[in-house]
Amino acid sequence: MDFTGRAVVVTGAGSGIGRAASRHFADAGARVIGVGRREDALKETAADRPGIAVHPADLRDPDAARDVIDAAIDRWGRLDVLVNNAGATRMMPLADTTSDGIASLFELNVTAPSLLAGAALPHLRAAKGAIVNVSSTYGHRPLPGAAHYAASKAALEHLTRSWAVELAADGIRVNALAPGPTESEALTAAGLAPAVVDQIKRDEAARIPLGRRGDPEEVATWILRLADPRTTWLTGQTLTLDGGLELT
Ligand SMILES: NC(=O)c1ccc[n+]([C@@H]2O[C@H](COP(=O)([O-])OP(=O)(O)OC[C@H]3O[C@@H](n4cnc5c(N)ncnc54)[C@H](OP(=O)(O)O)[C@@H]3O)[C@@H](O)[C@H]2O)c1
Repeated sequence: MDFTGRAVVVTGAGSGIGRAASRHFADAGARVIGVGRREDALKETAADRPGIAVHPADLRDPDAARDVIDAAIDRWGRLDVLVNNAGATRMMPLADTTSDGIASLFELNVTAPSLLAGAALPHLRAAKGAIVNVSSTYGHRPLPGAAHYAASKAALEHLTRSWAVELAADGIRVNALAPGPTESEALTAAGLAPAVVDQIKRDEAARIPLGRRGDPEEVATWILRLADPRTTWLTGQTLTLDGGLELT
């Protein structure tokens, strides 16, 4: 894939899938703005890759989206691709559900991608660009004990379909990638103890028909394919990449 001369915003670029995607885009010739809260983690992503600029920001801040897009334009002069990858998961059984818990998940997983897409719109129109939203297998499968995470990803998948139609006349394609359980910092970031994380990983691997959890590199490859300007007629779709988990 060749992204030479194109500029890409990747959120959640300091670890996991976002780090891998940022590096793949840069290696394919793109100019990248990597966004996340931890500047040191972003700098590690950008190490030895001058095509990646870092923009530390908390995307739950309502002003962050405008700042991110302004930073991309200031730095690279254009914007071709927005990858809404930053996201958080949270165990929250119905009995323990709180207003703050729901708001926190939706602010990052639904509101931030929406504000970023809105702020990016004039530039994506000019470039006839693309948006890639990172959902989850659980955006369209039930997830007992973490229903609001699943619901936030379901919302993102539905925004993907609606935006695809809304923006089609502008030549902007909007697709979603729905990975299954993938090696990353996500479970630790959810506040789970190491022993619980290990147990979840073993259970997930046992449930996945192909017998293992995903690798961020193989997930990132598909983000690039959805964003690839040569993928000209695909819009409004959610591609599930999960070793067959959604079929079980
Ligand atoms: N790993 C999986 O099993 C899996 C499965 C399905 C879907 N996904 C989705 O894949 C995406 C990437 O997750 P991942 O697996 O790569 O997990 P990860 O390693 O935890 O990455 C999430 C990234 O988002 C950033 N982030 C978190 N809160 C943020 C905030 N408030 N503002 C800005 N950035 C923030 C984090 O960086 P900072 O902490 O530095 O901000 C981190 O780099 C997420 O949307 C996740 O829901 C993951």
